[in-house]
Amino acid sequence: MRPSAAKKFWIETWGCQMNELDTQRMAGQLMQSGMLPTRDVQDADVILLNSCSVREKAENKVFSQLGRYRRFKSDNPDLVIGLCGCVAQQVGETALDRNPDLDFVLGPARVGELGRILDRRRSGERVVATGFPEERHFDIDTISRAGSYKGMVTVIEGCDKNCTFCIVPLTRGPERCRPLEEIVIEVEHLVDYGFLEIELLGQTVNHWRQPGGQWDFADLLDRVARIHGVERLRFVTSYPRDFTPRMVEQFARHPNICPYLHLPVQSGSDRVLKRMGRGYTVGEFGDLVEQLRKARPALALSTDLIVGFPGETEADFQDTVALVEDVGFASIFAFKYSPRPGTAAVHLPDPIDDGTASRRLQELLELQVRIQRNLNEQLVGSEMEVLVTGWAEATQLQSGRTACHRIVHFPAKPTAQPLGSMAPVVIEKANPHSLLARLQ
Ligand code: SAH
Ligand code: F3S
Repeated sequence: MRPSAAKKFWIETWGCQMNELDTQRMAGQLMQSGMLPTRDVQDADVILLNSCSVREKAENKVFSQLGRYRRFKSDNPDLVIGLCGCVAQQVGETALDRNPDLDFVLGPARVGELGRILDRRRSGERVVATGFPEERHFDIDTISRAGSYKGMVTVIEGCDKNCTFCIVPLTRGPERCRPLEEIVIEVEHLVDYGFLEIELLGQTVNHWRQPGGQWDFADLLDRVARIHGVERLRFVTSYPRDFTPRMVEQFARHPNICPYLHLPVQSGSDRVLKRMGRGYTVGEFGDLVEQLRKARPALALSTDLIVGFPGETEADFQDTVALVEDVGFASIFAFKYSPRPGTAAVHLPDPIDDGTASRRLQELLELQVRIQRNLNEQLVGSEMEVLVTGWAEATQLQSGRTACHRIVHFPAKPTAQPLGSMAPVVIEKANPHSLLARLQ
């Protein structure tokens, strides 16, 4: 087929790495059916909105994009628009009722069915594919990895935790683990394909267990870290309570496990953690951090924090401030609490007004900028390896990530480094959110 005759697709992605990977899966299926990606949404024959529903703001964004894109149908009556991702699972059929220009709704557990759903649309049906079928297909042979410099591998889907604020268990369904053998085959394929960095994915990735077997996430880490060619191994997201001493040990045992860990704490107050249903205390979190840093002294930690959770007093918030100062996170993702339909926290008393929540968020972010500037300044003069992922024409700077997940910019001199390769650099200057370096 000549490229100019091929149908084009456009996928817009919000949210977490699992959504990013789902986008790669959908792109792969479309390309296998002969379609090509486009960089111009107006040129697309299929538009997919891969949505996130973790906070209300993210949910609103997808519907405003839908409002924009449906106008393209007047120029291209054959245009097909699909709502995918967590909002799709959450709103299901009502989205079709409310949006006459929406062609189908596809939940995260049904991504593998995209091709069939498009066929059904062509024969006139407006499909709602949501829910969590018993048989789920991991379509590893149709994932489009183009434009990606790390190989993401799902090891566990869904979530069985009941954090009272979180909608994810409702949108991504119950937890399901993939067998170790299947994960190893996929990682070997990705290394063979040329990826230097592998990232294992799951909402609670360290809760992985071999289906019907004895192995846990420590065994999986140990096995994957030994695969020849895995230069960098990351995993996201770890649940603090599920981290065992054997998992901590792997950081000491395998230098290719990156010195970086995302460990969401959510709050620095035991009272709030209890109301969130997190199942650990601030003290236990601190002990875990200590163990991890003993195993890997250079470990960079990042975390998620929620401010303005119902009933959060000023003293609770100051406990969070104190925790952030004590731990010294390399980065934080802090959010104002957003009530989500169907979650337990919407029934909690004592909501926090938006002004207070905004002030708390601001205070936390300002503190974090100071911490990051400080931590990053200590890196000036050090030699690091950067996985090169970007190139900016305007500034003539290349960019990438260190093993500790910091963003580095460096001039492409004397020669530009290929995207996806590892470049040795020396850090010359520190900003709060990035480092400037030169090639070694
Ligand atoms: N385990 C998941 C968590 C998904 S939600 C993961 O892989 O990252 C990501 C983060 O969003 C959570 O850690 C939490 O800090 C935040 N979040 C979740 N629900 C929220 C809500 N209702 N309001 C504000 N922030 C929320
Ligand atoms: Fe959400 Fe808690 Fe699971 S934050 S994804 S319910 S671990």
